[in-house]
Amino acid sequence: MTDVERRRERAPVPKDWTYASAPEARDIVRIADRYGHYIGGDWVEPQETYTTISPANEEALAEVGQATVPEVEQAMAAARDAFENGWSGISPSERAKYLFRIARILQERSREFAVLESLNGGKPIKESRDVDLPLSAAHFFYYAGWADKLEYAFPNRRPKPIGVAGQIIPWNFPLLMLAWKIAPALAAGNTVVLKPAETTPLSALLFCDVLRQAELPPGVVNIVTGDGRTGAAIVKADGVDKVAFTGSTEVGKAIQRELAGTGKKLTLELGGKAANIIFDDAALDQAIEGIINGIYFNQGHVCCAGSRLLVQESIYEPVVSKLKRRLTTLRIGDPLDKNTDIGAINSKQQLDKINELVASGEEEGAEIYQPPCRLPEKGYWFAPTVFTNVAQSYRIAQEEIFGPVLSILTFRTPEEAVEKANNTPYGLSAGVWTEKGSRILWMAERLRAGVIWANTFNRFDPSSPFGGYKESGFGREGGRHGLGPYLEFD
Ligand code: NAI
Ligand code: MG
Repeated sequence: MTDVERRRERAPVPKDWTYASAPEARDIVRIADRYGHYIGGDWVEPQETYTTISPANEEALAEVGQATVPEVEQAMAAARDAFENGWSGISPSERAKYLFRIARILQERSREFAVLESLNGGKPIKESRDVDLPLSAAHFFYYAGWADKLEYAFPNRRPKPIGVAGQIIPWNFPLLMLAWKIAPALAAGNTVVLKPAETTPLSALLFCDVLRQAELPPGVVNIVTGDGRTGAAIVKADGVDKVAFTGSTEVGKAIQRELAGTGKKLTLELGGKAANIIFDDAALDQAIEGIINGIYFNQGHVCCAGSRLLVQESIYEPVVSKLKRRLTTLRIGDPLDKNTDIGAINSKQQLDKINELVASGEEEGAEIYQPPCRLPEKGYWFAPTVFTNVAQSYRIAQEEIFGPVLSILTFRTPEEAVEKANNTPYGLSAGVWTEKGSRILWMAERLRAGVIWANTFNRFDPSSPFGGYKESGFGREGGRHGLGPYLEFD
């Protein structure tokens, strides 16, 4: 044996570079066996129930209520009573105090909420801990600040609250969407009946505990759980003055039809098929990270996900090869493991939809790439996927997949990039990667999207308005703009 070989044997260099698991403790959160509806500050025993599960292993987590029409009516009545007999009349600075308290409590209990969010929804703990929870608290802090400054937000317009807001939210960011809905509604002086999505009710139910801790007056926020039937009952309720919905374009359209002619206010935040556009002068390695974050963040269950990658033809090859190499380093598995990059698909229904669309991509002639990875046997899983050879007419280039699936197309000129990016019924977001500031502005003027990121993607801030064009919906959430839909003006 030579000297060198001998030294190599003794060298403390690990040969196996796979990560050891680093699971977050789940006993920080106590899940009840059964939950009712939170109405008028009390738990109301539900008439019907269903079981909510963990999508990572199909384990039953709790029994929750499937609210019926009379239960929704009861919640509406509690919200009306709280609106008329207190909440709309207290001084705005008092309202602000409750919102500040809620924000503080969310920060204090953030680990507990992050674990619950990952358990019930399947998203990696890294994301619920570092994105969902800090942003949820930030939304309450931000709108707490506006509560006593509405006259300044809308000078000379005498803003007044509307009344009772019915709010229906999806499963991709359960607590964050709750914060986006509840914080501006309360800051503006309204009361609320909110329904979380049927697959992810638990963080909204734990939030009721925060409301009690903050001593929010009973009835100001009411939470009913259930599926689309409960949502439809909220929309149809006589007592609702404003509906705020985030979810599929299909249900959004049905809600708009239902409310047409009633004079009730409506905001819709619907689907998307965002273009993430990479010019040949972009910093490539940063762009690769932006592409990864754009489509694989939260398993691609993101309405503003960068699901259509538009790459300038001259850099197509390096981009695709770097991207494929980066895909092999993504870790898929236990959402509660702090190393996990990609967690579970939220539901069987969503997994079926992803499988169906991916199969259509292969049939239509696109070329599929998935890195070698072992998916857990139980639960709902989908490997990160890239499609090349995609034509604009393919379904995978047109329809929202809402999963970890990227379709790559190319372009030659900025004009062509704009044309292809705008060639969709949606218009929620877009990304532009280039070294040139002037090109960013040129693109931003022409892209029909509510949010445009430059040299980054999927960045959110409570002070920045968010919302879509065309079939992505209307109305803005976040920022001063997000207050408008919760106010009436003389
Ligand atoms: P969905 O639109 O059916 O569900 C969203 C929310 O609406 C849930 O709380 C649901 O209970 C409620 N809902 C369902 N039917 C309703 C009705 N008739 N009236 C009132 N509320 C109703 O979305 P789903 O079925 O969970 O997902 C289907 C597709 O929608 C996804 O694959 C994705 O493409 C898109 N989607 C978009 C979201 C976004 O953030 N823009 C969020 C969730 C889904
Ligand atoms: Mg649906």
